[in-house]
Amino acid sequence: MTNDILKVLISEEEIKEKVQETGKQISEDYKDKNLLMVSVLKGSVMIMADLMRAVTIPARIDFMSVSSYGNGTVHTTLKILKDLDIPLEGYDLLIVEDILDSGRTLYALREMLKQRHPKSIRIATLLDKPERRVEDIQPDYYCFNVPDEFVVGYGLDYAEKYRNLPYIGILKPEVYSK
Ligand code: IMP
Ligand code: MG
Repeated sequence: MTNDILKVLISEEEIKEKVQETGKQISEDYKDKNLLMVSVLKGSVMIMADLMRAVTIPARIDFMSVSSYGNGTVHTTLKILKDLDIPLEGYDLLIVEDILDSGRTLYALREMLKQRHPKSIRIATLLDKPERRVEDIQPDYYCFNVPDEFVVGYGLDYAEKYRNLPYIGILKPEVYSK
């Protein structure tokens, strides 16, 4: 698997340090709130597992899985593959994602979840790829900015592979043409 990696963009140690820092910030910001962390499957499993352990205040967690489709001219439509288990009223919702790329998925998801009337909604993402943004959406918390390159590892996949790499890397071009 590591033979397919051209270069390591963000090391395991760098991720660990930054996720700790982000968890500390979230703990401060939400100390008087009713934090519910929602992980968007599957890409955010790693950041969710590490970030929730870095959060030092009481927090609930839940999981959701969506697939997006759309023609690019209108806002994306979401299909819910796995919905949340609990209603959102009274919660300060923190959506935890792997990457904010075009922003289509998170824009649509945030709009949908707003309609369930949580007290507040914010977004925490491991990676932000601002060059590719199509929708008007920014993360409230992000760990790293990445250039406009396809990255894998620490939850992120290419064709469902490489999610279990402990770092963020760039794939060799020949992997795509296989
Ligand atoms: P969006 O374009 O912001 O809607 O991103 C949708 C999804 O595309 C993300 O949640 C990721 O699962 C996936 N994605 C976007 N960029 C990358 C990447 O560089 N590597 C792996 N997955 C990506
Ligand atoms: Mg994803």
